[in-house]
Amino acid sequence: MKNRIAQRMAEINPFHVMELLQRAKELEKQGRDIIHMEIGEPDFKTPDPVLRAGIACLAQGDVGYTEAQGLLELRIKIAQYYQECYQQSVAVEQIFITPGASGALLLALAATLNPQDHLLMADPGYPCNRNFVQLFDATPKLIPVDAETRYQLTAELVQQYWCEHTKGVLITTPSNPTGTVIPDAELGRIVVQVAKEDGILVVDETYQGLLYGHPPTTALRYSEDVFILNSFSKYFGMTGWRIGWLIVPKAFTSSVLKLSQNLFIATSTPAQYAALAAFEDDNMRILENRRLEFSKRQDYLIHELLRLGFKIPLKPEGAFYLYANCADFTDDSFKFAYELLESEGVAVTPGKDFGTFQAEQYLRFAYTTSIERIAEAIGRLEHFINQKKEGV
Ligand SMILES: Cc1ncc(COP(=O)(O)O)c(C=O)c1O
Repeated sequence: MKNRIAQRMAEINPFHVMELLQRAKELEKQGRDIIHMEIGEPDFKTPDPVLRAGIACLAQGDVGYTEAQGLLELRIKIAQYYQECYQQSVAVEQIFITPGASGALLLALAATLNPQDHLLMADPGYPCNRNFVQLFDATPKLIPVDAETRYQLTAELVQQYWCEHTKGVLITTPSNPTGTVIPDAELGRIVVQVAKEDGILVVDETYQGLLYGHPPTTALRYSEDVFILNSFSKYFGMTGWRIGWLIVPKAFTSSVLKLSQNLFIATSTPAQYAALAAFEDDNMRILENRRLEFSKRQDYLIHELLRLGFKIPLKPEGAFYLYANCADFTDDSFKFAYELLESEGVAVTPGKDFGTFQAEQYLRFAYTTSIERIAEAIGRLEHFINQKKEGV
């Protein structure tokens, strides 16, 4: 029976945090109060203007497929958003509406990767992205990065790791799990370096709306010849609607259109109509308040984790994660995360989920819960660490 399973499945890793989440749920069933800081999902619900637009679509009952590339109206709104937010013009023909950034990555990789190609990416990094590369029998080449390069790739690293099999580079800015942004000048240099090698550049901008003290930016500023992934999931608070977008270099639009027709037929119609309301002023005001709330949570959490003795060498500029070094407390962050869950009911994600480089020294804290709950988590964490120090 075993050889009926594709060989590539051996290379696709599970998300360790899902096991931890399952254990957290079991504990909750037993009546324990669990503080969830492991989940990469905003605690804020879908904003009302978006909900209303989705409900209106369903109420009128005509919920057929849209065109494969996505509603023209929505693509126009996204193009306007790039103009207003980034002063960047994008042709609507280059915009594809997809089932999340996940669907966008699937299209970008299917259109570009051949078996045995290598794609360079950072370790630590969002694990699903590298598993998508495996799906095409290509190889994710993980480049170890640390605080010295803001846990991000640089043009120099791209040059250093480029080999005859390298097809291109995938960068994520702001990053999951570190929340760090590739500085503008460096992003420009990466674009130039990849172009020099005639490679492809995929830029995961899923967390672009969620920046703190950093102006909005996009790799499109440096080249039209990049694939941009983005999503309504995180900043727009629409995770479960499954909708995002892909911006495609002109040379690839007809290939990506063929793929989107075949792979998805179309993205969910109610989700697309709901997303039409996402860029309206009343909705953007709600999102702006949420961004400010995330920023406050970040400040508080950084302050408290540093006080407890975690090391956070640099302040992340985006997303809703802190990647904290816990080497002063443990040499096994996976075990630490499990023990913390069992004894204190605080769920965080071990570094192991994001790669192998120094993974055992790191924990990812998602500040996707209220400041009050974060404060409660800090109290429990402090108790846990003190008990550990006392050898209890
Ligand atoms: C960096 C990054 N890219 C892509 C995704 C996928 O997001 P979605 O498919 O919900 O748009 C996530 C989700 O956590 C992520 O963290």
